[in-house]
Amino acid sequence: MSLLDKIDLNNTPKHVAIIMDGNGRWAKKQGQERLYGHNFGVESIRETLKAARELKVSYLTLYAFSTENWNRPKAEVDGLMDLLVRSLANEIKELSESGVRLLTIGDIEGLPENCRAELMDAQEYTKNNSEVHLILALNYSARWEIVNAVQKIALESQKGIVDPLTINAEVISDHMTTKGIPDPELLIRTSGEHRISNFLLWQIAYTEFHFTEVLWPDFRKEDFYKAVLDYQSRERRFGMVSEQLT
Ligand code: FPP
Repeated sequence: MSLLDKIDLNNTPKHVAIIMDGNGRWAKKQGQERLYGHNFGVESIRETLKAARELKVSYLTLYAFSTENWNRPKAEVDGLMDLLVRSLANEIKELSESGVRLLTIGDIEGLPENCRAELMDAQEYTKNNSEVHLILALNYSARWEIVNAVQKIALESQKGIVDPLTINAEVISDHMTTKGIPDPELLIRTSGEHRISNFLLWQIAYTEFHFTEVLWPDFRKEDFYKAVLDYQSRERRFGMVSEQLT
């Protein structure tokens, strides 16, 4: 029985978020520069998208560039931005033909002009698709997102648009850059690191975590299937007891 056959297609997560980690270490193992690993990471994204479609995962969020990543050497930052622009330009037609809608979360205004333009075009080009929402977290950090939401709510309440006493979890969710996107049921981090690294802190309240030793450029469909099988082995209690779930 293959891994795919073991998956219950009626119980796959609707939203999977991934911290794609280990590109640098993978490149180093090959005696190459870090960007070599990032380049190979794009193939892992293609594979993951195919697996997501097979499993009817409707939302796939990828942590592609954090607000902290600006602190990396300039050549790596420039190389990552260039890779993003080239990948979007090369892949967007095929992505669109396979039903992918591209979305972004994060402080997109802070990205270089050519990246913003490419992202805008890609979002416009794919806006009528709905099979898989590919959400790129770019210039993203959860604390930035929360601060941004608090500022927006405070301004609205100052203007009398929002009554402070009606602010609840739903109001806060609606001011996040993930507005309208369901919370992820499953979060995967590759490369053996067990950290959240400022990713989706608000949205992962009840998310199941799957950590794998696989470095991101080696991540293939089977690794995605394994993560989903791991998810399906969990009992999601949402604060209740087992007996209440049956
Ligand atoms: C983490 O590995 C990876 C990143 C910071 C960038 C991820 C980017 C890609 C996979 C490709 C570009 C994205 C798109 C959407 C085209 P790391 O560099 O931190 O690896 P290390 O921990 O081994 O050093």
